[in-house]
Amino acid sequence: MVVRFGVIALAIFVLNVDALFCELQSSCKGCTSTPGCFYNAAESTCENLVRAPFTNKINVINIPYDCPIPQPEAFPYTDAFGRDRAFLFSAASNGENKTQVEACLKKVNAQFYSQYTIPCDWLNQNCSAYIAVNPNEKSIVLTFRGSKGSTQFYTEALNLLTYGSRRSSLVDGDVFTYFIDAFEKLWAAGIKTDLETLKAQYSDYELWTFGHSLGGSLASLASVAAVKSKMFKKEEVKSVTMGQPRTGSLEYAISHDIYVPYSYRIVHAKDLITKLPFKVLPGQPNAYHHRFEVSFFEK
Ligand SMILES: *[C@@H]1O[C@H](CO)[C@@H](O)[C@H](O)[C@H]1NC(C)=O
Ligand SMILES: *[C@@H]1O[C@H](CO)[C@@H](O)[C@H](O)[C@H]1NC(C)=O
Repeated sequence: MVVRFGVIALAIFVLNVDALFCELQSSCKGCTSTPGCFYNAAESTCENLVRAPFTNKINVINIPYDCPIPQPEAFPYTDAFGRDRAFLFSAASNGENKTQVEACLKKVNAQFYSQYTIPCDWLNQNCSAYIAVNPNEKSIVLTFRGSKGSTQFYTEALNLLTYGSRRSSLVDGDVFTYFIDAFEKLWAAGIKTDLETLKAQYSDYELWTFGHSLGGSLASLASVAAVKSKMFKKEEVKSVTMGQPRTGSLEYAISHDIYVPYSYRIVHAKDLITKLPFKVLPGQPNAYHHRFEVSFFEK
């Protein structure tokens, strides 16, 4: 009896000492570097890990990488770039053909270059992208279409929920198979060679990559592939995605930040897609968002 009481008292004492220890950490980095603690993003508090299961997992930060850091000063996110460029070019990706895409590009005086529509999964559903040349702002713009129709959405979601992923020589780290399979096919279907041709022709132009949902993940991969293959220097690439799902492993996320420092993911607070695949316990297969996250549409 006395022994049992002693064990319980000791357990309570240890938990409290631990909890106290977490509360001493005020920064997210310090907190997540301390064993047994997690950072509660909603409350800006450092808490004992035993409380993590009782906290909305969207707010649980448990590794230093996921702590928010300031945006790059050389390319701060602006509402105008998100709304008038990333959003506009992404909307144009729904055009069925050159005529329809061109109608959308008139607003920015960008020139349609080529469209790529190919079967990209085991149900032979299409993935699509197009390239435009934007002389006013000296950029080559590569935009990927989002998932089209509920069958494609569920095929994609099935992959995310089973965490199936693999490596590819085009990028670093593991990437969800739906995204990397589609990306490798599109890249080989003319995007790579056309970018090389355009880069030779417009050597001082930047590369912008845009996309929504599935298109966001593909745009993220394209920005990395363009730098990893040495086609573009990292300062020449800007990537802005909307509603992008978690695309790959922690290694992919960290490498993305190095290859593409000017990269933003626009997130709508209630958009479930951006929370997929859900984070699970450390040590299990996991998925990470790369930098930088901005809210839709932040002023
Ligand atoms: C482009 O697609 C639209 C809608 O499907 C169609 O009406 C139009 O004829 C197409 N134009 C060309 C040039 O194929
Ligand atoms: C895929 O795209 C091709 C060419 O644009 C089209 O003919 C075909 O119907 C599309 N397939 C699906 C499943 O939408």
